[in-house]
Amino acid sequence: TRTLAIIGAMDVEVALIAKTLENVQEHTRAGVTIFDGTMPGTDIRVVATVAGMGTVNAAATTQHLIDVYEPECLLFSGIAGNLTDHLHINDVVLGKTLVYLDTDMRMISQSAPFTNEYHSDAHLLEVASTVLSEMSIEHLAGTIATGNTFVEGEAAERVKELTGADAVEMEGAAVAHVAARNEVPVLILRSLSDNADTEYETFHEFDVSVYADNAAAIVLNIVKK
Ligand code: ADE
Repeated sequence: TRTLAIIGAMDVEVALIAKTLENVQEHTRAGVTIFDGTMPGTDIRVVATVAGMGTVNAAATTQHLIDVYEPECLLFSGIAGNLTDHLHINDVVLGKTLVYLDTDMRMISQSAPFTNEYHSDAHLLEVASTVLSEMSIEHLAGTIATGNTFVEGEAAERVKELTGADAVEMEGAAVAHVAARNEVPVLILRSLSDNADTEYETFHEFDVSVYADNAAAIVLNIVKK
């Protein structure tokens, strides 16, 4: 059987996926709980887990999933802050390119995969675009910036200038980085939850489950496709 891995950072980002899978077994290892089940109507095995937020949690979880389950690809499902003028909340950014916000790539690129940026797999991007068009969801395949900081207030403008990214979040580049080291195809998909200028105190009162579920529903359709 084929095995696909799905990663989110927060509980809300994986909730719909865990609920949708059939014959789910839960394994707790490496600091995470893995929902190991079957995609309904298929014989595809899906292993889904909440990595925790930030690059270290994302990297450790990605490597664990690769080592233990040997998935044919990794799909990241989650929310991000919008940095564009033309996209809106609940639109989707696909991470065609992923860059770190706060990392000196002169140093990091000296080890595998020896690059300054990371990429989602071309075929997965194509499948994702088709699914998004079929679902009539506004989307673009662009650049996502990843850092270990929630981007709020004035910082959004600085991140835009620094990276030219379309969206900002806290895990994508780390997942794509580890995927590249292991030569496993990856797709980073983000539903926009804010414009990266909302103060954290306000943001963390928001119910982001609408946006997280939006991303999860798309990723489930990508698995089916
Ligand atoms: N995820 C969702 N919104 C974000 C933001 N503004 N900064 C970092 N990660 C995010």
